[in-house]
Amino acid sequence: MIDRTKRLTIVHYGHPALREKASPIRRITDDVKALVGRMIELMHGARGLGLAANQVGIPRRVAVVEFEGELTALIDPQIVSAKGGESAQEGCLSLPRLYGDVERPTRVVVRARDLSGKRVKLTAEGMLARAICHEMDHLNGKLFVDHVDESTLHWLVGTTEEGEPIVQPTTLDDAVKVLTAARGPGG
Ligand code: NI
Repeated sequence: MIDRTKRLTIVHYGHPALREKASPIRRITDDVKALVGRMIELMHGARGLGLAANQVGIPRRVAVVEFEGELTALIDPQIVSAKGGESAQEGCLSLPRLYGDVERPTRVVVRARDLSGKRVKLTAEGMLARAICHEMDHLNGKLFVDHVDESTLHWLVGTTEEGEPIVQPTTLDDAVKVLTAARGPGG
């Protein structure tokens, strides 16, 4: 089911796996462990805060998140409670350079298993809660642009000499056109 001989890379907007509802992992095999290892490498290489298996073209329910130096692999995660709501900026490694504000719960409780198969219960707040919700969306075939506040949607086009971001506002329609064109035929 998970082909370990295939070289995995982060897939971008337009790849069908990003729109699939991922199926449960259930058995934590060596292939699952290898998949998680590769996902961590890719997340680090891209300086991301999280990565879901859908984003490497494998629609299975596993995601990795890293927050304040702590790396967590979530296998078959479920959000069991969510509280509050706060809007803040998000981006996604599968939608390079696109950012916008998304409303997310401020606190979530997640049940999952870790790589050893042990059941874990995690209470997350703020940025970590946001990252987990973003990854849960991926596992359900959703992307942040599905519920972004369109008035805040923008491309990060560069940085000034002072390190300030240079942004270019966009609409959802235009962003989708650019992302789809960037992917190109067979990409
Ligand atoms: Ni993402």
